[in-house]
Order: sequence, then C-alpha cells, then structure tokens
Amino acid sequence: MLKKKMQKALNEQINAEMYSSYLYLSMESYFRSISLVGMANWMRGQVQEELFHAIKFYNFVGERGARVELGTIRKPEADWASPLAVFEHILKHERMVTDMINNLVDLAIAEKDHATRNFLQWFVAEQVEEEASAGEIVDKLKLIKNDTSGLFLLDAELAKRVFTMPPQGEV
Ligand code: FEO
Repeated sequence: MLKKKMQKALNEQINAEMYSSYLYLSMESYFRSISLVGMANWMRGQVQEELFHAIKFYNFVGERGARVELGTIRKPEADWASPLAVFEHILKHERMVTDMINNLVDLAIAEKDHATRNFLQWFVAEQVEEEASAGEIVDKLKLIKNDTSGLFLLDAELAKRVFTMPPQGEV
C-alpha cells in the first residue's frame, strides 16, 4: 500500500507527464505550421512516449492499491522563435523532469518505500536518454545556424523516428 505522501507525489508526476505530452503536441503543431514535417514526426514520438510515461505511473499507483487522482493540465506554450528555440525548450524541460524524478527517488528513500524506489529506476535511466537526445539535436542546430540545407538534412533524419507503444504487459 502506498503512503499518502508518496501517492500524492506520484499523482503529481502523472500530471507532469501528461503536461509533457501536451507541450510536445503543441511543438509538433508548430513544426507542422512551418512544414518541418520530420521534426513534427520526431515530436509525435515524444507525445506518445510521454503518454506512455504517464500510463506507466498510472498503472503503478493502481498496482499499489491506491487511487489515481487526475488534475488539470495547464496550457502549454504555442509559439517559438525557431527550431533551435524549441529544442532548447525541450532540453530545459527534460532537465526539470529529471529533477522531479530525482525528488521522487529522494522521497521514496525517505519513506523507506523500496517498491517505488525500484520502479523509479526505469525513469532515472530514461531521463539520461531524454536529455541526451534533446541535447544532441540542440548541438546540431547550433552547428547548422542559418544553413537551410543542413536544416533540411536534419529534418529528414528526424523523419525516420518511429515510436512503438510497448505492449500493455510491459507498461
Ligand atoms: Fe517523461 Fe520526457 O520525461
């Protein structure tokens, strides 16, 4: 059984993951509006991945015999100055999510909740990947600067991303 404090924190994390999905959907729409469809495709992968994260937390709370309470998802930003501004925003956002996951681990340790601590290790590893992939694209966009052909090459590379939702049993 989850303790109340942990239950509240995990419920808040479900909201944060849903917000991430919402934010990335807004970014996808931005990329579609400027016809960078490869970047839009990459964002769609992010949208689905964040929903997957939210469901993973949702399932865990339920498995621990606790009730999920869904909160309001705040409105995400809708406009950015450039593709670089979007990916810098993603990197900053993912660093913030990493801090949130680390805070959850700290709480699990303080509460001696070993099951939650163990569950969170998947997210600790995931955040390393999340920051690395956003950071890599930020670096590439900085190298590209105003070179349109470089931007189209990167867009074509990001068009190849495929995210497949893991089967229900693995969520
Ligand atoms: Fe769910 Fe991108 O962290």
